[in-house]
Amino acid sequence: MRVLALSGSLPLASSNRALLRALGALAPDDVEVVAAPGIDSLPYFNPEVDPAPASVDAFRSAIGDADAVVLASPEYAHSLPGALKNALDWVVGSGELYDKAVVVLCGSPRPDGGVRGRAALEQTLRAQGSRVLMSETVPLARGAEASNPLLSETATRILREALARIQADVVHPDVEGAPRP
Ligand SMILES: Cc1cc2nc3c(=O)[nH]c(=O)nc-3n(C[C@H](O)[C@H](O)[C@H](O)COP(=O)(O)O)c2cc1C
Repeated sequence: MRVLALSGSLPLASSNRALLRALGALAPDDVEVVAAPGIDSLPYFNPEVDPAPASVDAFRSAIGDADAVVLASPEYAHSLPGALKNALDWVVGSGELYDKAVVVLCGSPRPDGGVRGRAALEQTLRAQGSRVLMSETVPLARGAEASNPLLSETATRILREALARIQADVVHPDVEGAPRP
């Protein structure tokens, strides 16, 4: 099973990027967690740009080839980061996120951080037909380095739950909801 790990935060030292690395480390042997191509290489979305540039093709293929996507993103100004929204706009027309199983995570030093950012991100995902399996803020203990967040028991539990939900969805897609088309 292939899970695409997509960070909504661009800095290399991002705690959300680190969260996705931790997800990969916790994944069982039969789940491959692969990092999405950097969304900072995508141009601003413009429907007149046709054919799409290679960076957009690579981004679309990475989503299309994955069984599920885990998005970890900070909240910026009560919404999702602009770079992430831009990336998601590139797949509205091409449809790679349609019917895709998606987990939304927001790594935050505050237990209630990111609630509005997650809501905005979920709305964008549902608008393009994604199936949001789970959405959680992941409380991160403040570490010496943001790139090396101290995973609390709660954070580890949430990451394990995300992996379990994806496995259950991919293996038994119809257990929790209506049959998929
Ligand atoms: C421009 C900017 C805007 C932010 N706006 C919010 C916000 O509205 N709500 C919130 O909870 N945190 C906000 N934050 C804090 C980030 O979400 C938080 O620091 C997050 O952990 C950063 O994740 P990262 O290390 O993956 O980049 C903001 C941070 C920045 C840089």
